[in-house]
Amino acid sequence: MASLVRFLLFVFLLLGLVSHSGAYHPNPVRFGHRRSPRSKRVSRRSCQAPVYTNISACFPALGFTTPSNVPASTDGWWCDPVNEYAFLGFSYEVTACQSLSQLQKEFADIRTNFNGRYVRLYGACDREGFYDDVVTAAWDNTLGVHALIWFGYGSSSKWGSRRDTLFSTLHSNPKAKFVTRVVQFGSEPLFDQVLSPAQLTTQVIAAKQNLSDIGIPVTVSDLAYGYQRNGGAQDVLDAIDSINAHMLPFFAASATTGITGTGKKMYFDENGWPSITYSGVKPQSKVAVASVSNEQGYFGLLDEHCTDLKTVVAGGVGWFAHIYSDAQEPGYGIYSSSGKLKFPFAPRTSC
Ligand SMILES: *[C@@H]1O[C@H](CO)[C@@H](O)[C@H](O)[C@H]1NC(C)=O
Ligand SMILES: *[C@@H]1O[C@H](CO)[C@@H](O)[C@H](O)[C@H]1NC(C)=O
Repeated sequence: MASLVRFLLFVFLLLGLVSHSGAYHPNPVRFGHRRSPRSKRVSRRSCQAPVYTNISACFPALGFTTPSNVPASTDGWWCDPVNEYAFLGFSYEVTACQSLSQLQKEFADIRTNFNGRYVRLYGACDREGFYDDVVTAAWDNTLGVHALIWFGYGSSSKWGSRRDTLFSTLHSNPKAKFVTRVVQFGSEPLFDQVLSPAQLTTQVIAAKQNLSDIGIPVTVSDLAYGYQRNGGAQDVLDAIDSINAHMLPFFAASATTGITGTGKKMYFDENGWPSITYSGVKPQSKVAVASVSNEQGYFGLLDEHCTDLKTVVAGGVGWFAHIYSDAQEPGYGIYSSSGKLKFPFAPRTSC
């Protein structure tokens, strides 16, 4: 437990910096391309009494019922990220190319048994129509999706065709823009040096343009160290709409300065602690111990610090548990590979 506390101190030092930096960004860049009419109205009247808005009457708030038909537009559809923090849902690995029925079953579990609001995709499935199945299951279970353009580890050029396939589906599937909250360039393109910061910035800007007609923002899913090893990669930080940071403190190197101070909404998307070590999952530090109790302890500490995380700029940090099942990534799952919960898991979704 001592090691966990040490790593958590490191996390909250980072959060302190982010939160503090917000003071120097009185107009933080908002997530998304357009402000909703509602947020405009609030800001114009900011010196009057606040206007009451029902923060549950939006997708994918808990308690919201998805209509049977797709609305005419996404105006007023999405919950404002300023009201989204605490536990959001799971990282969900898709290399297994889950069938639609498995997606339906597991997304229903995420929503109903864990109060999930989002799934953050991880890995890649190149089966034709796979993202259409993700959209169907997400819509049917009132879950938003952080979609991912998977780069893989090390260099590979496959990401370009994956990007094209995803962008086509986002435009062609009528429900896609109602469930896809953000597209992430990942995983770890900076850390793996697949693209230079300048190349990645160009890609992010082009993606934002491509997706602007359907209102889907774009981010990069990377380690803080991915920015740091590229001289801070300020151009990338400026281009992205939100920050999806990998928090795997088991691997923590002291590399956080780059991603602080942007004033943008922040998510911990690849965020967890393994219960076992194996080749590829070995800590940098001798004091980091892989065990189920430390995995449980890590999420427990995040949950305990709900109110601290809420003070971070742009409405607080929203976090994903990485990952849904050991069948997806050994050791990191909330479920074991035989489908049993490894420990009680019921983090708060507000505080
Ligand atoms: C807020 O919206 C939710 C979901 O649409 C609804 O169930 C709830 O009754 C609303 N609350 C109020 C006070 O209007
Ligand atoms: C968006 O990207 C897709 C896939 O690369 C492409 O077919 C489409 O023409 C692009 N649309 C725009 C408006 O750039």
